[in-house]
Amino acid sequence: MKQLSTVWALAGALSLSSLPSTVRAAVYTNPSDVPSSNSYDFIVVGAGTAGNVVASRLSEDSSKKVLVIEAGVDDTGVVTVEVPFLAPLAQNTAVDWNYTTIPQTGLNGRSITVPRGFVLGGSSSINFLGWTRGSEDLYNKIASITGDSGWGWDALESFWTKISTFVQPTDNDQVTPDEIPQSNGNGPLDVSLPNFDIEPDERVFETAKLLQSQDSRFKYTVDMNAGDSLGFGYNQVTAGGGARTTSATAYLHPALNSRSNIDLLINTRVTRLLQSSTSGSTPVFGKVEVAQKAGGPKTVFQASSEVILSAGTIGTAQILLLSGIGPEADLGQVVVNSPDVGKNVRDHPLLELYFSVNSNDTYDDALRDADLQTTLLNQWFASKTGLFADTPVNTLGFMRLPDSFFTSGVSDPSSGAKSAHTEVIFVDAFVPTAQNPMPSVGDFMTVIVAVVSPTSVGSIKLASGGSDTFTQPLIDYGLLSTDFDVQAMLQAITDSETFIAASPFHRDGFLVAPFGGFANATTTQQKVDYMRNNADTVHHPVGSAKMGADSPSSPLGGDGVTDPRLRVRGVKGLRVVDASVLPIIPECHTQAAVYLIAERAASLIKEDNGM
Ligand SMILES: Cc1cc2nc3c(=O)[nH]c(=O)nc-3n(C[C@H](O)[C@H](O)[C@H](O)COP(=O)(O)OP(=O)(O)OC[C@H]3O[C@@H](n4cnc5c(N)ncnc54)[C@H](O)[C@@H]3O)c2cc1C
Ligand SMILES: *[C@@H]1O[C@H](CO)[C@@H](O)[C@H](O)[C@H]1NC(C)=O
Ligand SMILES: *[C@@H]1O[C@H](CO)[C@@H](O)[C@H](O)[C@H]1NC(C)=O
Ligand SMILES: *[C@@H]1O[C@H](CO)[C@@H](O)[C@H](O)[C@H]1NC(C)=O
Repeated sequence: MKQLSTVWALAGALSLSSLPSTVRAAVYTNPSDVPSSNSYDFIVVGAGTAGNVVASRLSEDSSKKVLVIEAGVDDTGVVTVEVPFLAPLAQNTAVDWNYTTIPQTGLNGRSITVPRGFVLGGSSSINFLGWTRGSEDLYNKIASITGDSGWGWDALESFWTKISTFVQPTDNDQVTPDEIPQSNGNGPLDVSLPNFDIEPDERVFETAKLLQSQDSRFKYTVDMNAGDSLGFGYNQVTAGGGARTTSATAYLHPALNSRSNIDLLINTRVTRLLQSSTSGSTPVFGKVEVAQKAGGPKTVFQASSEVILSAGTIGTAQILLLSGIGPEADLGQVVVNSPDVGKNVRDHPLLELYFSVNSNDTYDDALRDADLQTTLLNQWFASKTGLFADTPVNTLGFMRLPDSFFTSGVSDPSSGAKSAHTEVIFVDAFVPTAQNPMPSVGDFMTVIVAVVSPTSVGSIKLASGGSDTFTQPLIDYGLLSTDFDVQAMLQAITDSETFIAASPFHRDGFLVAPFGGFANATTTQQKVDYMRNNADTVHHPVGSAKMGADSPSSPLGGDGVTDPRLRVRGVKGLRVVDASVLPIIPECHTQAAVYLIAERAASLIKEDNGM
């Protein structure tokens, strides 16, 4: 890490490619610095969550040469990336793509922001660090959709083991041995628990245990990542020793620092993929066109084995569409008519519910008081401890909807009985939003509810005139556009109200009353209005290049944009490896599933290339 940051400090002044070649990889900040004599077996588009895993694993074979191309900036030393508590502040800064959705009908016509990591590590560098794998039902469902048992829970065990290692929280006297989740392995990514307890934690655990006997939909869990994702427990996080870990810190930087067969080109956007040759009658997509600014000079790189597209749900769909791989009905002219590109996009809607509390220990002051923030940041720099060493979320829970929900011809969209429909997240402060600014006084708890098995579907399309990747595509999440999603959100509100009505939240007069617009929303219609006026997303878009089952008689050889081995249908030499291939939305936070897809993809690519 340190070595590389020193190197990067120099990179502006002199081209690394002119340095004598050592074990260290080359890091280029300009395409014209890449010697034309360099040849690459694999080109990975996007140094994000998935891309770095793939690039790192492929470069384990020293006979293969890998080039990673990233649009965004270096992650080294970026405070909002490194400090867990400051994660929300990364949005609309140099490490964000700053996208917005088109007006969302289900949100009364509001457009909402779409943060995406524009930085090494991609969205793993700017997300909120939650580590939830989802249930065994989720992966078994993906196996059944794709007809590939390799995506099933049991078959994936060895890949999970390769990703994460559990790291003890720094203040570990609060975590008893039987509270340690067992679902980690010995991989490079640190996964840990909150470093210290905050006021709501014990109340959440007690309530879950208390309510369990009355309604089994409420329960306490030590590890929501061990196959059954239901229950309330600690938020497992991608951090260790008080600092965030990402696919860049865990996979990319170590590979760059120790291998000479992986090169990185940053600050450079892939504008499209190009056909390099034809195999039989099938186009081979082995070329990658890049530029550093709109209308700027273009450079083309070629991969002799494969191009791996890991630009994320939005970037991947955009690049495929710009490359002529997409729905003929939308694009007019295509190289390959692939009707599902940019379709099937799903995200999780969320909603903040505010409560005033009788406490002097919430972290509302830390959100208001600049001097306190400076003190906390200095503490973090000095020892990686204190409030800033944790994320804003210590506890959360995943729930099923009641059975009665599905009696009137409503079918269950979740992947199985161990998967959730809704989520409840506890924050020991007021969570300010565009609609709900931080109150100048008072102590609060925010209960965030989300629908994690939504049925609303959206899309990614090219903007008219959006003929390159410097114009943002049209992003439509279709949020809250189905009655199911609205009803599920209402149930999530009711369930969270039941939860915090329990005695542990009222001990010492802790919970006072609902606050703000939510306090006024008492009728169902008022709650729906509050929902449509305030809901946002958990930033988990998936599905714009979904994988599907083979079926030899169909035009592309099967369903979806890719086959179950993630090879893009209708072309050769191109795979998609990122959140876009998910055919269904995980009923949990999505980064763990993306790491998993990438680990298995790397193994599939090695197999298919005799590595
Ligand atoms: C604000 C926020 C909070 C979140 N919180 C959580 C959470 O707490 N827990 C959780 O599990 N998940 C969370 N997520 C979701 C999770 O981070 C994503 O699902 C996951 O990181 C997606 O991985 P990916 O590889 O598909 O895409 P990304 O990680 O976004 O990687 C795509 C990469 O491709 C690059 N790229 C895109 N287009 C181009 C181009 N044209 N040329 C070159 N490079 C390009 C991007 O810059 C980026 O580096 C959150 C996401 C956000 C944005
Ligand atoms: C997002 O906005 C920030 C702040 O204006 C800017 O620095 C950054 O470059 C923008 N991101 C992109 C991809 O343009
Ligand atoms: C908070 O601090 C004030 C002032 O010191 C005190 O009067 C009040 O009782 C405290 N409240 C709680 C819940 O501790
Ligand atoms: C709640 O309703 C009251 C009475 O109609 C109104 O004065 C107040 O502004 C409302 N509060 C919010 C936050 O909408």
